[in-house]
Amino acid sequence: VQVELFIDPTDDRGIATQIYAQLRDAITDGRLVTGDRLTPSRMLAGDLGVSRFTVTDAYARLSAEGLIEGRAGGGSIVSATSTRAEVPVAASGLAPTPRAAHIARYAPDPTVDARFDLRPGRIDPTLFPTDTWRRCTVRALQHAPPAYGDPAGTIELRTALARWVLHSRGISVDPMDIVVTSGAQHAIDLVARVLVEPGTTVAVEEPGYPPVSELLRVNGANVTGVPVDDQGIVVDAIPPSARLVYVTPSHQYPLGMTLSRPRRLELLRWANTHDAAIVEDDYDTEFRHSARPLEPLQRLDEHGRVVYIGTFSKTLAPSLRIGFAAVPRTIGPAIHALRQAIDWCPPAPTQAAMATFIDEGHLQRHLRRARRVYGERRHLMWTALTEKLARRGRALPSDAGLHITVLLDDRIPDDELRANTRANGLRVPPLGDSYRFTTPRCGWVVGFGAIPTPDIPDAVDALTTALDAATQPPR
Ligand SMILES: Cc1ncc(COP(=O)(O)O)c(C=O)c1O
Repeated sequence: VQVELFIDPTDDRGIATQIYAQLRDAITDGRLVTGDRLTPSRMLAGDLGVSRFTVTDAYARLSAEGLIEGRAGGGSIVSATSTRAEVPVAASGLAPTPRAAHIARYAPDPTVDARFDLRPGRIDPTLFPTDTWRRCTVRALQHAPPAYGDPAGTIELRTALARWVLHSRGISVDPMDIVVTSGAQHAIDLVARVLVEPGTTVAVEEPGYPPVSELLRVNGANVTGVPVDDQGIVVDAIPPSARLVYVTPSHQYPLGMTLSRPRRLELLRWANTHDAAIVEDDYDTEFRHSARPLEPLQRLDEHGRVVYIGTFSKTLAPSLRIGFAAVPRTIGPAIHALRQAIDWCPPAPTQAAMATFIDEGHLQRHLRRARRVYGERRHLMWTALTEKLARRGRALPSDAGLHITVLLDDRIPDDELRANTRANGLRVPPLGDSYRFTTPRCGWVVGFGAIPTPDIPDAVDALTTALDAATQPPR
């Protein structure tokens, strides 16, 4: 370990003193801590282009002050006196623009631990097919191309994805119309940037998925919330001026209903009449627990109005950041150029690993296993919630995904709900977090992806205890 040293030949103090002073400061302010090994004197002398004696002189002074000590096998380490301190924060005159300053962070405390993690969007990390993914990645690294790639993604992965969506969702798409992205969120960003001018009205579901409404707002859109009923988005309530409608038809986030077939057709007609785009976010349908799926909007679309978006955040891991969009041919070139303008192209090794993972059947095998595990969790969670919350609320039916939304009868403020669940060792967001435009309903969005199966009954007990605490009149 070493800190970069800067030698000023015009400094009257001499070179040894400069080395000594900079290392002393690094040790006393905690940038170097106990046990850190200093660069051997011969090597440092070579790096700095000074005599070895100059460096040993500096080290001798540090040693005399007890800041470093020699090691038996040679070399010096920082001695036991130093502990890491906060790196001092430099004052700065820089500030974000007012628009940037207003970007809201979603789930602002991701690091807080809890006994029961019931956050939606979480998956079980123990299911991740580590060995297979490692093999695919190692092979990919051995053939990593030395140059930038196609901004839309490698043709191998786009072809694999086209085959995958045909198999999994019955969607027929030419690989050339697939764009590989860093997750669904990134896909929606690219689409919004090429379809939405600042000030354009866009419609999202209310309640809905806040990161997307925030993203659209950040892109300058005038974002409106449209109510959902038991058939999904209420098409009649979409403002006629909307040029883009973002929907989660397979599994409405967060309430969980499926957009009915008549509504799908109505939405497509609406989009065609109003010259609007539909963004179909199919974020978790790989985990379908019952019922036959309805045809995706993309399949029913006869006028090229739909952008279909998929992600591997639920099926593999959100941290991999792999998603994709199937886009109408008319907007493909603009998206490719935009992607290149932003960051050139998706990472080649991840794309190659993912293509192999799909082509060799590993994704399908992994999903079969994950579906069994999550299916059991969903059943247990549903049963426990229905039983324990009886008469105080209800779990909303849903056929897919990794969460169940609960509506509570009592009107408990979200902050109180949050405080009580935290106090009972739970991390679970109030349903209110998913509302941006209207008065929230009271409830929770209960994820079951991350919680070990045997913990589910205790977690639901903790939820009911938290609910008791929140509804008891103060003594
Ligand atoms: C509605 C919705 N869309 C998309 C995603 C996934 O987004 P990404 O692929 O950017 O991780 C999630 C994740 O929780 C989600 O809830």
